[in-house]
Amino acid sequence: MAFHHPRIELPITFDQFHTLPRNPAYKYEYFDKRAVLSPRPKAFSCVLDLKPTPVPDGFDVRPLPAADIPGLEKLFLHANIHTQPYQSLDEKKQAEAAKDAIERVVAGDDGPLIEAACFQVFDDRRDGPIGAAVVTLVHPDILTVPFAGEWKEPPPADAVAKRLGVPHLTWIFVSWWEVRRGVGSALLAHAANALHRLGFPHLASTFALDNPASALWHWRNGFRLLPQMSAMGELIRRRKKASG
Ligand SMILES: CC(C)(COP(=O)(O)OP(=O)(O)OC[C@H]1O[C@@H](n2cnc3c(N)ncnc32)[C@H](O)[C@@H]1OP(=O)(O)O)[C@@H](O)C(=O)NCCC(=O)NCCS
Repeated sequence: MAFHHPRIELPITFDQFHTLPRNPAYKYEYFDKRAVLSPRPKAFSCVLDLKPTPVPDGFDVRPLPAADIPGLEKLFLHANIHTQPYQSLDEKKQAEAAKDAIERVVAGDDGPLIEAACFQVFDDRRDGPIGAAVVTLVHPDILTVPFAGEWKEPPPADAVAKRLGVPHLTWIFVSWWEVRRGVGSALLAHAANALHRLGFPHLASTFALDNPASALWHWRNGFRLLPQMSAMGELIRRRKKASG
């Protein structure tokens, strides 16, 4: 996951600073008559144990071929427009961040694509898809080690066929106009069944602490939190390791 959170400076009084609502993706400080908000995004991993899952009726869910993923940039941005960092970026940077997210998946930077588990939802009332789920294969240490899941070396070409990693719901996004009517859960049911058929026992995912819709959606759909380490604990561990 790439982070595009901007540093924000607001020329406001100290009293006004204390009335600012707080977002958990930011550290809040006051210097020289300015509020300074520095990005500190926090992501958490969770996992779903896979079993045959009933597929909800009423959704036109179709496979998402790899070749269609680059065309999802506009939908991705529209789905994320009220989440951080997109909400705090100008239009140009929003488009760049969305392009970057999609390009990372296409390039394989989020792990090899599990194409058979990627789906999109269509609706007669709209042009193009209204939601999509993109699943990649991450390193199996995501299940046991905090802040893990990245491949240290490129995985073998047959990593998906040999189930050498853990499927990860790298992106699930639903048009802002269509949220909260079951589209995301329908996509998940299709992805979960496809992965179960392929013989995978788990689906991992990651949510940002400052994205309550995502956190609640994962919880509501049965994901459980994986082992966590406080950010400070991780920093101390890395410093100790670096100093030998
Ligand atoms: C997260 C997201 C995929 C959910 O899709 P969706 O189609 O709205 O989800 P569903 O309709 O299946 O939601 C089911 C449950 O999720 C939870 N939920 C979803 N959105 C919520 C919100 N805004 N506030 C609170 N709970 C929410 C609720 O428990 C909801 O059940 P309920 O409506 O009966 O209370 C969608 O909001 C989205 O695209 N967000 C932007 C992109 C994103 O954050 N993706 C996740 C990280 S990759």
